[in-house]
Amino acid sequence: MRRILLAAATLAIAGGALAQDVKIGVVGPFSGVAADYGKQMEAGMKAWLKLHGNAMAGHKVEILVRDTGGPNGDVAKRLAQELVSRDKVDFLAGFGFTPEALATAPVATEAKTPMIVMNAAGSVVTTRSPYIARFSMTLQQVSAPMATWAAKNGIKKVYTLVADYAPGIDSETAFKKTFTEAGGTVVDSVRVPLRNPDFGPFVQRVKDSKPDAVFMFVPAGEQSIAFMKAFEERGLARDGIKVIATGDLTDDDVLQTMGEPVLGVITSHHYSAAHDSPENKAFVAAFKETGAGLSRPNFMGVAGYDGMAAMAEVVGKVGVPVDGDKAMEVLKHVKLTSPRGPISIDPATRDIVQTVYIRRVQKVGGDYYNVEFDKFLDVKDPGK
Ligand code: PHB
Repeated sequence: MRRILLAAATLAIAGGALAQDVKIGVVGPFSGVAADYGKQMEAGMKAWLKLHGNAMAGHKVEILVRDTGGPNGDVAKRLAQELVSRDKVDFLAGFGFTPEALATAPVATEAKTPMIVMNAAGSVVTTRSPYIARFSMTLQQVSAPMATWAAKNGIKKVYTLVADYAPGIDSETAFKKTFTEAGGTVVDSVRVPLRNPDFGPFVQRVKDSKPDAVFMFVPAGEQSIAFMKAFEERGLARDGIKVIATGDLTDDDVLQTMGEPVLGVITSHHYSAAHDSPENKAFVAAFKETGAGLSRPNFMGVAGYDGMAAMAEVVGKVGVPVDGDKAMEVLKHVKLTSPRGPISIDPATRDIVQTVYIRRVQKVGGDYYNVEFDKFLDVKDPGK
């Protein structure tokens, strides 16, 4: 007995000396109207830890959260700089908004620190540093399938409405290209300000031009809610105008609050909390415990989870402290069975390849969900 105890103690000491902590600096909005972006990513990361013994390849994980307050590039860059120089993090992660990721890219390059993008979805992001790998989506990747589906399903004339910054322009570009190539007509396009748009006048212009549908992308959360409010108030549904959108509109984080007005809305996206798989069931259950105050995981939550799975592969293969160049070689070849379905990283672009689902908002057991009913397999970013 004594011998066994001694052996265990020796192992523990040896383990302790060897097992240096993995440090992950998470940069994103944790306050303000987009606070849930950061909270979703963090809860998704913690759900991964919960389901994997609270460690990465035997190493304890330290998560350092830093709040940008919103789409604020300068703040993101300063916080990332502190994380690499003072806190000596092994990974930078997070990034809710494209401007946060773009401003931070040079920091990742300079420090040779792998940067794991968990949302920021403008195509250009991964081109800005060889140390970036993306585990979320690109707006082009999720917008093009919506156009294909719409053209095949009797929608002929579409008005597009997007937020006026890189992801919005990407979304408009991919939708227009795919929809017109499939024989549809884009009757007009409008871009709305990224911050605090008053959707009323824009939605009125859509209504006056009487399209079959409006295709739209604005950042998930507060802005999606504001768009739907204007759509309701101006009576577009009564005029027979449909909304088609990327899943940012019917984001799981706020879907339950949006309720009735979005019932039946069709969107394209890479994750739904209702995705039917054992991996997703386990994830949703773990998230209930790690996501205090959040109703269920959304696409940012699942990107947090998958980002952790990828970082764990890196740690398992290259050890700690993490060597940036060796880490990128591992990240370029990541292939996972995610709660969203199969995902991989395209080694040529370090961007994600994944299934894009077409979904309809339905009531399931009294709650609103995006129910998947069609899919496009192995979609790469068309913007590359
Ligand atoms: C982005 O800024 O890249 C972004 C933000 C919110 C979304 C999607 C993309 O819902």
